[in-house]
Amino acid sequence: MRIINCHTYEAMSRKAADILAAQIQLKPNCVLGLATGTTPIGAYQGLIKKYESGSLDFSEVRTYNLDEYRGLTHEDPQSYHYFMNDQLFNHVNIDPANVHVPDGANTDADAACADYDRMVAEAGYCDLQLLGIGRNGHIGFNEPADEFSKGTHCVDLTESTIEANSRLFEKEEDVPRQAYTMGTQTIMNARCILVVANGENKAQAVRDMCFGPIVPTCPASILQLHPNVFVVCDDAALSLCE
Ligand code: F6R
Repeated sequence: MRIINCHTYEAMSRKAADILAAQIQLKPNCVLGLATGTTPIGAYQGLIKKYESGSLDFSEVRTYNLDEYRGLTHEDPQSYHYFMNDQLFNHVNIDPANVHVPDGANTDADAACADYDRMVAEAGYCDLQLLGIGRNGHIGFNEPADEFSKGTHCVDLTESTIEANSRLFEKEEDVPRQAYTMGTQTIMNARCILVVANGENKAQAVRDMCFGPIVPTCPASILQLHPNVFVVCDDAALSLCE
């Protein structure tokens, strides 16, 4: 793991945008795995700036998002698909046909997950997978569990994740209780992984991910087994790693 301390959220976001942009420039038809959440928003803004300045072309880029709430359509403003359109896709020249997010509108979980796994496999898995990390060490919606997950699957969200995500909903009761998520094995199949984390509330999870035992009770700890991981953080997120 290469741990990069960028000190501030702004510098962390610039570094993450630079890494993503370099991947796109090196391989214009690359497959990117993307994440929602608050952490990558600055990196997405950085990518939009690079596109607007003419230094980045998304026309051949293919994307696969990590996860989606079960039961929400892509037009639902609370869906992760909507979030991605709003934060990135609507602002760059990506071909909508090249954008993939698990189909939350398909409530047949087995079919929705099998379809997504097939699509990611057919794309040859991700060249670069962007990840945030949950306070409990989750990646995607792979929550602490007794074993590491494999392919895309439907999960019951934990109380801590529901509470953390409720800031984006009017009421906590509105937060969906289930989601489809890429599995740990699918994430690990990416050729390069970029984790972004900022803030003190991520410090324990970042420490466990980088230096703790490799256990499914901290799903992100599996990343220690991946040969090509960048962990890009601010000071606060690295405060327990000294
Ligand atoms: C989002 C995702 C989640 C988030 C994590 C951190 O697609 O899969 O694992 O990356 O919950 O979220 P933020 O960035 O909001 O702290």
